[in-house]
Amino acid sequence: TGKATAVAHPNIALAKYWGKRPFGHNLPAVPSLSVTLAGLATRTTVAFDDALAEDELHLGGHPAAAGPTRRVSGLLDRVRAASGRTERARVTSDNDFPTAAGLASSASAFAALALAASTAAGLSTSPEGISDLARRTSVSAARSAFGGFVALRSGAPGDETLPATPVAPADHWPLRVIIAVTAEGPKDVGSSEGMKLTVDTSPYYAAWVTDAPSLEERVRAAVLARDFQALGSAAEASALRMHASAIAAAPGLLYWTGATVNVLSEVRRLRARGIPAFFTIDAGPHVKVFTVPEAEDEVTTALAAVPGVLRTLSATPGPGAHVVDP
Ligand code: DP6
Repeated sequence: TGKATAVAHPNIALAKYWGKRPFGHNLPAVPSLSVTLAGLATRTTVAFDDALAEDELHLGGHPAAAGPTRRVSGLLDRVRAASGRTERARVTSDNDFPTAAGLASSASAFAALALAASTAAGLSTSPEGISDLARRTSVSAARSAFGGFVALRSGAPGDETLPATPVAPADHWPLRVIIAVTAEGPKDVGSSEGMKLTVDTSPYYAAWVTDAPSLEERVRAAVLARDFQALGSAAEASALRMHASAIAAAPGLLYWTGATVNVLSEVRRLRARGIPAFFTIDAGPHVKVFTVPEAEDEVTTALAAVPGVLRTLSATPGPGAHVVDP
């Protein structure tokens, strides 16, 4: 019928991706490993329509700006080329979490778009195919095609496709993720732009690329063994080393605010009191704190009281992208 709706969830990287290969095709320079979240979702409908002269994008009920619309059209062009369809599409996408808070949403957005567009165009919709298609527009979106714990290796010269691969299902480990929201409004420097500046100008970027694979291996082993302490030390190192490479760019990329640092200190205080918790930070001022179910209430209360924390959101490991009824 030329129309389909899909839901996808954001993912949080425990081993971070930061930086692209220099040989094109949007290939990551380092391996990454993430957990896809239940509790936050993007719902996207794609309708091909031969009455349209241009692709149309509505985000959260409002017509989108030119930049996001171009990025969406880039993905739709691949779907049109693969399926032989020529019509433009009407795309509506809504998040059930506050996008104004600048929380990473490109992962769930492009995973949902890839699945909805491929379904609407009558293409095959294997999770591998959806993952690779989403990865070409936004690398982290490749991981949201799958649920649970998901890895994406680094790109190699000559890679024609690069899908993410599942590491363990969502019910492998019932971790809790508490997001400490520390600011409203979109971030100043988006991740694509920030990592390009890091690649081009940071003297620490080469060290990050050399070091990141061993951190990804430590994260993977800790996830498979359900070793919380080992996971925490590897995941915090990945986040801090990623940010160290970015801070050393010219001009230095400071995604953190005072509130960000307050949360990091609070997580270390909780740990010193024997409460299991570790943090990770993406290209923005919010902090994502991982804990175990028994400590969730105590950690949430402590984070909500940190100066500069506006509110908290909580999530658990969840499913991959899936087609739903409109
Ligand atoms: C810090 O996937 O948003 O969240 O590939 O340019 O779209 P593009 O970048 P994006 O970068 C995400 C970076 C990160 C770490 C991660 O998710 O691995």
